[in-house]
Amino acid sequence: MRLKDKVAIVTGGAQGFGLGIVETFAKEGAKVVVLDLNEEGAKAAAKPYGRKAFGMKCDVSKAKDVQRAVAKAVERFGKVDILINNAGTSHRNRPMLEVDEATFDRVFDVNVKSIFHFAHAVVPVMRANGSGVIINVGSTAGLRPRPGLAWYNASKGAVNLLSKSMAVELAPDGIRVCALAPVAGDTPLLGTFMGEDTPEMRKKFVASIPMGRLSTPKDIADAALFLAADPGHFLTGVVLEVDGGRCI
Ligand SMILES: NC(=O)c1ccc[n+]([C@@H]2O[C@H](COP(=O)([O-])OP(=O)(O)OC[C@H]3O[C@@H](n4cnc5c(N)ncnc54)[C@H](O)[C@@H]3O)[C@@H](O)[C@H]2O)c1
Repeated sequence: MRLKDKVAIVTGGAQGFGLGIVETFAKEGAKVVVLDLNEEGAKAAAKPYGRKAFGMKCDVSKAKDVQRAVAKAVERFGKVDILINNAGTSHRNRPMLEVDEATFDRVFDVNVKSIFHFAHAVVPVMRANGSGVIINVGSTAGLRPRPGLAWYNASKGAVNLLSKSMAVELAPDGIRVCALAPVAGDTPLLGTFMGEDTPEMRKKFVASIPMGRLSTPKDIADAALFLAADPGHFLTGVVLEVDGGRCI
């Protein structure tokens, strides 16, 4: 068990990549706090692990929700060793000038500002503990952008760079910060990225990935495990492409 006695917070853990991370981390012995806008989904994700996990509603774009969730994690499990900032959203694939301001704000609030809120809530807890790992889920979108996703791509570029900025600043505190950059994955979010979920569009996306398939929640969870557990102990500021070669 590679995460025995570790306490991990996973945002957006009700479905998709986040749920995959919850399952892998719990199997590896971590106590897991599952946060999501979808309260029922968060609780259902935690349920199989009994007292070693709990789920609660948290809008990661709201400072108060984030503070409350981190306080609850510390109250229940005494510390936070690992934070996975995974919750994310996008505007539907469309020309950049057709995305309205409210949608732009929502994308940046959920994908980027959430990391600001979590840094404020979690860094003091990790500092007090003398260690910690923060993994932000960025994207290949921030490295090799696709058309029609301009504002989402920019938000993920910010996540990727923010991870390096945090890494260099928090290294003296024993806190590592890395990012994952997944390629398109078969989650409920995929239709938003493709614009229309048709067999032709899926074929087009798959054709852009040298290894010839979409990513899976297990691919992303395995990479998160590698960075969070002991084998990753000297890795910080890494933006790990989990992309079957898309960024080559
Ligand atoms: N699926 C892909 O193709 C892909 C590729 C690269 C990166 N990503 C990134 O991976 C992460 C997970 O994506 P996914 O594909 O699993 O998406 P998903 O839509 O399947 O799951 C996202 C989860 O986050 C939750 N969520 C959304 N907004 C939230 C908020 N404000 N507060 C709390 N929870 C919120 C949703 O309720 C949902 O359960 C996102 O950051 C996404 O940008 C996805």
